[in-house]
Amino acid sequence: METLSTAPALRERLWNEARVAFVPTMGNLHDGHLDLVRQARQHGSCVAVSIFVNPLQFGPSEDFAAYPRTLADDCRKLEGLADVVFAPAAAELYPETQTIFVEPPPIAGELCGATRPTHFRGVATVVLKLFNLVQADTALFGKKDYQQLHVIRAMARQLNLPVEIVAGETVRAADGLALSSRNAYLSETERGEAAMLYRELQRIRQEIAAGGCDLAAIADEARMRLESRGWRVDYVSLRNAATLAPALADDEKKVALAAAWLGKTRLIDNLEIG
Ligand code: PAF
Repeated sequence: METLSTAPALRERLWNEARVAFVPTMGNLHDGHLDLVRQARQHGSCVAVSIFVNPLQFGPSEDFAAYPRTLADDCRKLEGLADVVFAPAAAELYPETQTIFVEPPPIAGELCGATRPTHFRGVATVVLKLFNLVQADTALFGKKDYQQLHVIRAMARQLNLPVEIVAGETVRAADGLALSSRNAYLSETERGEAAMLYRELQRIRQEIAAGGCDLAAIADEARMRLESRGWRVDYVSLRNAATLAPALADDEKKVALAAAWLGKTRLIDNLEIG
């Protein structure tokens, strides 16, 4: 495995590869990332992973500075799974002040975008940069970031990007908590409580399976139950799984999405229904 930090070194390493499968990450890798990297092997003769904490997708009061940076450890975890790690410095991806951005679709202003208004613009812009540098045939993203996956798929379609987007299932801890780098911020007590977010999504799915069709009320009740346990809820929402428009009772495939704070940690999760 080679670890590279510049665009010319990356180009030189990859230009002759038959099929490149690419997993973009912000590092601090957990089994969710490693699962995507293993899956990537089925899509390419060369597996490339990027590790870059992208300043553009963090709001001014968010955790950019505190975000865990664990490059040496990440590289150890990738040994034997990836062929190339691209870990650029910020100046490599942002050689000058960024004044050109990918304008994400309107859905990027809802759900997570309601409280993180520039987040998906930052994600789409850096992912496009990474796609330009890696020139992968396939790129893999986890379903845990469901709205991000939706925005990236739309970008790939609408900008005619020659890359296939593949989604990986969310990897969960034994109690159901979706693996996330931000879980490391949780105190022991909060970690005990954190799996409630997924349990509420499961409860929503059960209620719908049992015939519940007042979707707004079902989501509101989940929000209230979480709030009564001390969570600060950004949203609990039922959406059409393909469009992320508010779900209708007869939509065949729905997704329940939630984002909520436990203390200082913001967790997101989702569950496909149908
Ligand atoms: O999902 C992430 O880790 C990031 O949003 C991504 C896609 C690597 C872009 O910085």
